[in-house]
This record gives sequence, C-alpha cells and structure tokens, in this order.
Amino acid sequence: MIPASPEPGSHIPVLMHEVVDWLVTDKNGVYVDGTFGRGGHTRALADQLGSSATLVGIDQDNSLLLNFDKSGIHQTLLLQHANFENLEQVLKSNKINSVNGILFDLGLNSATLADAARGFSFDRPGPLDMRFDQSQPLTAALVLNEYDEVALSRILFEYGEEKAARRMSHAIVQSRTAHPFVSTNDLREIVAQFTPPKFFVKALSRVFQAVRIEVNHEFAALRSGLKAALNTLAIGGRLAVISYHSLEDRIVKHYFQEESQYPAPPELQPYQATVPGRIKILTHKPILPSADEIQRNSRSRSAKLRIVERMA
Ligand SMILES: C[S@@+](CC[C@H](N)C(=O)[O-])C[C@H]1O[C@@H](n2cnc3c(N)ncnc32)[C@H](O)[C@@H]1O
Repeated sequence: MIPASPEPGSHIPVLMHEVVDWLVTDKNGVYVDGTFGRGGHTRALADQLGSSATLVGIDQDNSLLLNFDKSGIHQTLLLQHANFENLEQVLKSNKINSVNGILFDLGLNSATLADAARGFSFDRPGPLDMRFDQSQPLTAALVLNEYDEVALSRILFEYGEEKAARRMSHAIVQSRTAHPFVSTNDLREIVAQFTPPKFFVKALSRVFQAVRIEVNHEFAALRSGLKAALNTLAIGGRLAVISYHSLEDRIVKHYFQEESQYPAPPELQPYQATVPGRIKILTHKPILPSADEIQRNSRSRSAKLRIVERMA
C-alpha cells in the first residue's frame, strides 16, 4: 500500500502516486531510482512491489545513501554512489542486464538545499560549493574565480536565462581581483547590483541555478543519463522523468520525441517521412501535480512528469 500521507516532518516525494502507478509494470521486476535522494520514491515503489523485486538506488551524493534507513524495505536494495550517466556500468557491475522501470527525479533534495554548508541556498550565507558529489573537484567558487568573462556570461545566460548576464559577468571578474568569491553572499551582492528589489529573489534563483548547473554538468549528465536509461530498459519497460525547470524539461521532451520516431529509410521516403522509434511517449502532455499536492508541498509546484515505454 502506498502511504496516503507521509509522516509529519518527513520528506515528501513529488508526484509519488503517479510515478508508482505509471512505472510498475511487473511487480517482481527490477527498478532503478537514478536520483535516490532520501529514498522517498524508492520506498513508495517498494510498498507496491513483490518480495522478489530488485531495487537499485543511485545518487551522486553519497551522504544520502549512507544515511538511508533500509528498514521496512523487504526487497533486494542496491545503493550505488554514481552519476546516473553511468547507469549502464552500474547495472553491469551488479550483473543486471535489463530493467523494468527507471525514475529520474531531477535537481536537488530539499534537505541538501536547506543545508547552508552545501552552498546551494541564496537565503543563508555558506561556502560557494554547490557540488552534488562532494568528491568532485569543481566547486562554485572555482567557477566564479577561474572562468573567464565570456564563459561566465554564457553560463548565466544559457543556464539561468539571465538578461543581465554580460554585466554581471563583467562585475564578477572585476570584483574577484580584489576579493576572491568565497561565500554565497559574495554572489548575492553581484546580483543585487543589477536587479531592482522587486525582482531580486527571481534573479537570485536564476543565477544560483545557472552556477549549480555548471558545477554539476547537469545538462550533459541528463542527456547521457536519458540515453543510458533507454539502452537498459527491457521491452515494455518504462522511464519516468520529473523535471523542475523549462530548460531541463526541454531536453527531456526533445530526446523523447527524437527516440519515438526516426526518419524513414530511403525506400519508404516516397510514402512516409518517419518510422516508429524505440519508444512510445505515454504522456503527450506532462503530468503536473494537483492543486492539493502543491498546497501540501510547495516544492512540487514546478514539477513536470514525462513517461515513455520501450517498444523495440
Ligand atoms: C529531487 S532529489 C530526489 C528525491 C528523491 N526522489 C526522494 O524522494 O527522496 C534529486 C537527487 O538526485 C541526485 N542527483 C542529481 N543529479 C544526479 C545525477 N546526474 N546522477 C545521480 N544523482 C543525481 C541529487 O543528489 C539528489 O539527491
């Protein structure tokens, strides 16, 4: 049974019922949670699956895997510290050839966001870190102190859709010669210089989002992860992706479109332009959280869930 509501104070998985309902096609199959986080979706899946199912939980943030309490999960649960872009290697090393369902619930965990020491939050001072994986060398401080002005401008514009990207990047490069960027407050001050108070919070979230995407190479990982996921799905298996901003959703949507139909071979071209691809799109419009879910969990408000099924 899926719990009707989570324990008070506990983490609330976004679109939990929808994910479980769409993803489970074989109660004793193999399921991968590629963004394990605090294990909310994995627990909800486990509640629905039979005892001989296998669950694989992957996260770049090893601290989350180490702190997970496995009690109440009766299936085999393999927790793997990895980037989901390496999904095929992770499965191979666990002798798993194909899987029935995969979930990517993108972005970061609310507990990690709230932890000032991780540097993701613009609300509280903390080190400019922003790494999902604490063992990787690239941090937000390195991006802000080492990248040249053109690269910084591109990041703020492409990943943050920030209109003042050029002026902000210029200010970053000027300011760091006197004082290197150390704290989230240093970045906050740059954003404040170019934003009217009315738009300050939105600008902060755009700029922090942009730097975070660069630090974690999020878009490249997403593209590789989607490909790896389709490669490992069994025929009839499903991939569900929850994204939280339009740039991520666009990558998911376009990749699903590309893989759902291929250009027809030359001999068929006179009759048809395309042939069915290796997946079928099950959600032509993304599934959105209900008003009730948004009220219970404001983090869900921008979520979009897309699901595909492997056909060939
Ligand atoms: C929104 S949270 C997932 C929450 C989870 N569904 C739950 O219910 O607890 C996203 C998680 O994915 C992880 N993550 C993000 N990108 C990743 C990637 N490329 N590979 C592996 N883990 C990733 C983050 O570290 C974070 O813990």
